[in-house]
Amino acid sequence: MKKLIIINGPNLNLLGKREPKIYGSLSFTEFLEEVKEKYPNMEIDYFQSNIEGELIDKIHEVGFSYKGIILNAAAYTHTSVGISDAIKAIETPVVEVHISNTFNREDFRHVSYISPNAKGIIIGFGLQSYELAIQSFI
Ligand code: DQA
Repeated sequence: MKKLIIINGPNLNLLGKREPKIYGSLSFTEFLEEVKEKYPNMEIDYFQSNIEGELIDKIHEVGFSYKGIILNAAAYTHTSVGISDAIKAIETPVVEVHISNTFNREDFRHVSYISPNAKGIIIGFGLQSYELAIQSFI
């Protein structure tokens, strides 16, 4: 069984409640249940933290044994050299995802410290961005 993990960064624990016009009204737990049922041949783990160091620790923990990491570093995407370096330090490929199209939003969201070290990038398809990332590991 292929082991994947979805890692979500700050404020994504509020999906479903947070700015629903941008991020939708489905909670991540509801979405994850649906997606796990759709891909029974994959083991899909989930981790969310609002704390940069915890995200880095989790990347280290899974980064030598998992088949893939699907990472939405949220606001840290645009600021974190630490998360960028963590992705460089591990062996597991990372697919960067974003729910919204960060390129049609504020200028500061056009910069990603994750993209240069990611295997691929999926942006702007709502929660479906995560599913497309899962499919990239099939
Ligand atoms: C986001 C986009 C980021 O700019 C923002 O800070 C987020 C969510 C997205 O999935 O669209 O928190 O990563």
